[in-house]
Amino acid sequence: MTRTLVIIPTYDERESLPRQLDAVRGACPEVDVLVVDDGSPDGTGEWADARAEHDSQVSVLHRPGKGGLGAAYLAGFAWGLARGYEVLVEMDADGSHRAEDLPRVLGAPGEWDLAIGSRWIPGGAVENWPAHRRLLSTGANGYVRLMLGIPVRDATAGFRAYRASALSTLDLATVESQGYCFQIDMAWRVLQAGGTVVEVPITFVEREHGESKMSGAIIREALVKVTGWGMKERAARVRRAFTRGSR
Ligand code: GDD
Ligand code: MN
Repeated sequence: MTRTLVIIPTYDERESLPRQLDAVRGACPEVDVLVVDDGSPDGTGEWADARAEHDSQVSVLHRPGKGGLGAAYLAGFAWGLARGYEVLVEMDADGSHRAEDLPRVLGAPGEWDLAIGSRWIPGGAVENWPAHRRLLSTGANGYVRLMLGIPVRDATAGFRAYRASALSTLDLATVESQGYCFQIDMAWRVLQAGGTVVEVPITFVEREHGESKMSGAIIREALVKVTGWGMKERAARVRRAFTRGSR
């Protein structure tokens, strides 16, 4: 059996987390769960502590304040790698990532280093998202493909599984992305390291409770970073062409 850890970052998810935890534990009882809470003012962290007390497969990592999705996942990865998990999974707390899709993500075909639960491949879907969120996601993914030239259709997806062996070869200390751009950053790093990324279709369901933490700052960070990585990659390509030509 593959030792698997599902990492769920939370910020003010008191209304959503209980149902998501039950769903994940129910769908994949052998899988352990780590909640990474950034000191949620609504008491999500305290609720998770109480839950962890009577479920030995649930753990909680507390961070002092809202430090962004990227930092929360990096802390979760370090926790999981230190404890010998072989597969580390990312899932949102708000129910958007359906636990019933988890076996499909974990069972993605082939030898993968990163398996992405994709909204934007055939069979994938988004439910109850307003037009502007659809546009933001498809636009962001189009821009990523244009700038980075990677074959991934849903590089911003937050439902994904990493092989620990691949994750541990990456230099995670240099990851600066704080917001949802972290997802693009990680897919890009896995591919640049020569890793294999596969996508399996999932249905993303917009949350019923609480609010999205998407913000202008998160969008700006992604735009600036993706543009920078794309420019750097193009410069490297030109340099490689020149060194080949002058030989
Ligand atoms: N610990 C912590 N710290 N958790 C956070 C933070 C933070 O600063 N910001 C967000 N989260 C948690 C939320 O509590 C939730 O569990 C999850 O991260 C996703 O946040 P949402 O605010 O629900 O994201 P979304 O629905 O707008 O965005 C979804 O789509 C994005 C774009 O495709 C998510 O799936 C993102 O992962 C994805 O990048
Ligand atoms: Mn959400």
